[in-house]
Amino acid sequence: MERKMNRLSIINSVAQAIKAQTYIEIGVNTGEVFFSVHVRQKIAVDPHFKFSGRAKLHRIPQVRKLLYKNHEHFYEMSSDDFFAEQSELMEKFKPDLSFIDGLHTYGQTYKDVMNCLKYLSPKGVIIVHDTNPICPAFETPAVHSIQEVLDKANKGEIPGWTGNWSGDVWKAIVRLQCEREDLSIFTLDIDWGVTIITRKNNANKLSVKDIDSLNYKDLDQNRVKWLNLKKPDFLEELIQGLTC
Ligand SMILES: C[S@@+](CC[C@H](N)C(=O)[O-])C[C@H]1O[C@@H](n2cnc3c(N)ncnc32)[C@H](O)[C@@H]1O
Repeated sequence: MERKMNRLSIINSVAQAIKAQTYIEIGVNTGEVFFSVHVRQKIAVDPHFKFSGRAKLHRIPQVRKLLYKNHEHFYEMSSDDFFAEQSELMEKFKPDLSFIDGLHTYGQTYKDVMNCLKYLSPKGVIIVHDTNPICPAFETPAVHSIQEVLDKANKGEIPGWTGNWSGDVWKAIVRLQCEREDLSIFTLDIDWGVTIITRKNNANKLSVKDIDSLNYKDLDQNRVKWLNLKKPDFLEELIQGLTC
C-alpha cells in the first residue's frame, strides 16, 4: 500500500536520508508533527503549545524524563525570543533538520530561516511549510499575527475564505532564491507547499525586484520558477542526493 505523502512523511524521509540526530520545529501547535518525527534529540518552539491528552504530559519535566529520557525540549516562546535567549544551546545543538512553520508572514519566515541557517549542521536541511498558497484568500498577508486575518475573515472581508491560511510565507522563498547562491531550494507541490533547503549551489538563482510589494497574482504567474516547484515524486531524487 502506498504511504500518504505529507509534511511529516517528507520530514521523516529527509531525517532518515541524512541520519539526523537533532531536530528543531518552529511553530508546533498540537505537536501533531513534532511528536511523530523520528529524530533522537528534538527542540519545540511555540509561544502557545496546544498539547492535549497524553501530549500534555511532555510539559511536566519529571514525566518527560521518565518517558523520553529528556530527549525532547520545549520552549514556550516566540522564535525571536528563543534565538535571542538560546544561542549557546543552539551552538551545541546544531540542528541537522529544522522545520519552520511558525508565524506565517514573509518577514518572520525569512528571519526564522536565517536564524536556523546560523546554527544548522554542515549536512543540515531546512524545511519550510505553507509556501505554495493556492488562492488569494489562503495567501492573505498578516503583519503581526493570524488574528488580524481571522478578524477580517469574521467580518466577511476575505472573499473565498475557507479557514485555511498560509500567509505570504512564499515571499521568503523568493527572497532566498534571489539572495543565496549557496542554497539549493525546491518546493514540493503537496500539503500547501513544502520547501526543502539544502547547502548546495543554487541552480535557480532569481532576480526579482521589490519583493515586499508582490501579491498573489504575481506568484500565480511565476510560481513554478519562483518556488522551483516540483511534483511530489521529485522527493525521491532529492533524497538520493542527500543520502549519506
Ligand atoms: C500552523 S501551526 C504549526 C503546525 C505544526 N508545525 C504542524 O505541522 O502540525 C503554527 C504555529 O506557529 C505558532 N507561532 C505563531 N507565532 C510564532 C512565533 N513568533 N514563533 C514561533 N511560533 C509561532 C502558533 O502558535 C501555531 O501553533
